[in-house]
Amino acid sequence: MTSNSDQQNLRPPPHVLIFPMPVQGHLNSMLNLSHLFCLAEFDVTFIISDFSHHRLLQHTTVAATFARFPGFQFRTFPDGLPDDHPRSGHRAMEFLSSVKNVTIPLFKKMMIQENFLASADRRPVTCFVADGLLSFSADFCEENGLPLIIFRTATTSYFWALFRFPQLLEAREIPFQGKSMDGLIESIPGMEGFLRRRDLPSFYRVDDVNEPTLKEVIAVTMLIERAQAAIFNTCEDLEGQIVAEVHKHVPRVFSIGPIHEQVKYRLTEMKAESSIITASLWAEDRSCIDWLDAQPPKSVVYVSFGSLALVTREQVLELLHGLLDSSQRFLWVVRPDSVTGSDGNDQVPAELMERVRGRGLLVEWAPQEEVLHHPAVGGFLTHSGWNSTLESIAAGVPMVCWPYFADQTTNSRFVSEVWKVGLDIKDTCDRKIIEEAIRDLMEVRKDEFVESAENLAKRVKKTVSKGGSSYDNLDGLIQYIKSLAI
Ligand code: UDX
Repeated sequence: MTSNSDQQNLRPPPHVLIFPMPVQGHLNSMLNLSHLFCLAEFDVTFIISDFSHHRLLQHTTVAATFARFPGFQFRTFPDGLPDDHPRSGHRAMEFLSSVKNVTIPLFKKMMIQENFLASADRRPVTCFVADGLLSFSADFCEENGLPLIIFRTATTSYFWALFRFPQLLEAREIPFQGKSMDGLIESIPGMEGFLRRRDLPSFYRVDDVNEPTLKEVIAVTMLIERAQAAIFNTCEDLEGQIVAEVHKHVPRVFSIGPIHEQVKYRLTEMKAESSIITASLWAEDRSCIDWLDAQPPKSVVYVSFGSLALVTREQVLELLHGLLDSSQRFLWVVRPDSVTGSDGNDQVPAELMERVRGRGLLVEWAPQEEVLHHPAVGGFLTHSGWNSTLESIAAGVPMVCWPYFADQTTNSRFVSEVWKVGLDIKDTCDRKIIEEAIRDLMEVRKDEFVESAENLAKRVKKTVSKGGSSYDNLDGLIQYIKSLAI
């Protein structure tokens, strides 16, 4: 007689269809997830727009990594925009709309034309792992009888704060209607006592709860109730209580993060030949590593606001003054399309640039993970994007959080009040506040922050190691998907 696990092992390996939003913060984590599936010997079809695919192949080792797995394939689709469209900066939203209006219909057409889900040419598709922002996913899966697994790239807390929209409304905690932004929110279990209005997802900052973007964000959040399972790039040590709350609404929840650390651990454990993926859409300027090599230990503040945030020239000047007045060294990523109303950093007055020389270095894009692990880096001034936050936590680097939008306003509160590995200066951009926060992090409270950041890094790394919760949850996810394969 064969046992359940024997029966699963006799089944053909699963074939997973993965569809991320083709922007930086979503591609990295979903490519890492694909890598984990490939290591489990699954077939993976990864859906991506032509443009992002081209940029990935240009700037990264992604092609070489996946070439080792014959069951992995990219399927690329046009996004309908001209080649010279930047698809980032202040035009990023046009790109996202175009993915919705052009790429998704083309993907669906291909599914039918090629009879992709059940074609005899390849293994039948076992399940659809959809980016949590794809609103068509539930209908698509229900129409095709396909199990849906939703992957949320941001914090579970952010997701949970959106999911509680009806209760927030009922308790009249939204809209804010001029109430103090420091007032505490009471109707989100697991976050009572520390989450203020200003820490809610930025989409709640509207006068009308029927505002179209908020409505869309809430609608896509609620899709999780139609999914068979959800994956979060988080772990018990960071958000265990919140994950347990979400679990009450979804049959299966797998918190398997930090995914980039899980990949590293599994590769070492399996003595696998493939290397970790750096999924940059921009060319990394490696000169910053040489510059860091010449700096004393823990002396440099790394400054980066991710791939979507925009800053005004006035904000750049306040940040720059604050950094210079703090007397700390800094490495600052200024994406070419990130400063609004300018062509880049050439508008920074010459005398300020003179002060930067010797103390600071500006680059357009950095190998961030490597930078965060560099011994010279002692702090991170960040927009609190979830990938950046996880990378900083895993590297044991404390943060000053200056969130921009979406999940970042919530993430930064967790960094300062729950995990206590940094300071949150949201909603201000004042050179004095920035100077003081940087000094606190790098000098005044340095020992305290270094200790808590190093402790948290150890705990988080343990969760992805054998016997840790994220390690076990990934095994659980793999077994679950295997059980779906026929
Ligand atoms: C946004 C979010 O706010 C995030 O929380 C959500 O999950 C995805 O969308 P983004 O603003 O790009 O993403 O921030 P973040 O999630 O931090 O991702 C940025 C990624 O770019 C990180 O993995 C970081 O390592 C990488 N990066 C950034 C570089 O490799 N080099 C750089 O110079 C800057």
